[in-house]
Amino acid sequence: MIAFDITKPLLVFGGPYSNLQATQALRGCAQALTIPAVNVICTGDIVAYCAAPEETARLIAEWGCHVIQGNCEQQLAVAAEDCACNFEDGTECAALAKGWYPYANARLSDDMRAWMSGLPETLRFTYAGRTFRVVHGGTAVVNRWVFQSERDVLAEEVALSGADITIAGHSGIPYLRRVGGRVWFNPGVIGMPANDGTADVWYGLIREIDGEMVLSTHRLAYDHHSAAAAMRRSGHANGYARTLITGLWPSLDILPPAEREATGKRIRPRTMRIGAGTAAKSRAESEAA
Ligand SMILES: [Fe+2]
Repeated sequence: MIAFDITKPLLVFGGPYSNLQATQALRGCAQALTIPAVNVICTGDIVAYCAAPEETARLIAEWGCHVIQGNCEQQLAVAAEDCACNFEDGTECAALAKGWYPYANARLSDDMRAWMSGLPETLRFTYAGRTFRVVHGGTAVVNRWVFQSERDVLAEEVALSGADITIAGHSGIPYLRRVGGRVWFNPGVIGMPANDGTADVWYGLIREIDGEMVLSTHRLAYDHHSAAAAMRRSGHANGYARTLITGLWPSLDILPPAEREATGKRIRPRTMRIGAGTAAKSRAESEAA
C-alpha cells in the first residue's frame, strides 16, 4: 500500500541514465514545487548512457522516491553482460551500448546492485479516485518499446495493464495517449533529450484540480554542458555526449516512422484533463509551451 500526500501533485519521470546533473536538477525542481519524495515516482533505468552511474543511483536511493526496475537495473543487479535494451544487432544503439554498459557495470557498487535488485517490477495504487499502474517498457515485457504512434501496441498494453492510467518509461519521448477509456502516460526521461533538437529533458505531473485529474508533461532545462563534458572526460559513449548538446539521438533505429519523422521538431508540453466520473471523458489539449 502506497501512502501519498494527497494535498500535493505526483511527480513522475523516467531514465536518469547516470546523468547526475539532470537528476540533481529534477530533485531541485521537486523541492521548488514542494513535492515530497513519497509523491515522486521513477520508472527505472537509473543507470545508463552518461558519466555518473554510482553517484546517480545513490542520489535517487537517498532521495527515497518510489522506483521500479528498468531493464538496466535488472541487468546491473546481476552484473549481466549487456543492458537488454532490445537494440537490434548491428545498429548504432547496440554499438554505443558496448561502450556505456561496461563503463557503468565496472563502476557500480555492490550496495547499489543490492538496492536495485530489491526494487519492485511494477507499482499499483489509487490516487484521487483512479487506479494507476507503473511499468518500465511494456506491461509484461520490461524492454518493450511503446510509442504513441503505434495504436495497436498501445491498445494491447492498456488492456494488459488494467489500470485507468498507466505510467511508463523506457522509450524516451514524452506523450499522453487516451486509448478507449484508459490513458497511457509516458512522462519522458530526464537523462537524455527527447530527439526534438533541444537539450531539455522531461518529467510529468499528476494533479487533481477542481475535481478534474490533470496529467501534464514538462520540460526541464539543466546544466547539460557539464553533463556532456563529464562524458567526454570519461571517454565513453561520445555519441550520447553529443546528444546532450544537440538534442538529437545518435540513432533512430528504434523509432517507428512517425517518431522518426518528428526528429528535430520541438515537442510541446501537453496537458490532459480527465473529468469527474470516468477516464472516458478525458480530453487532450495543448499547454502553452
Ligand atoms: Fe529501459
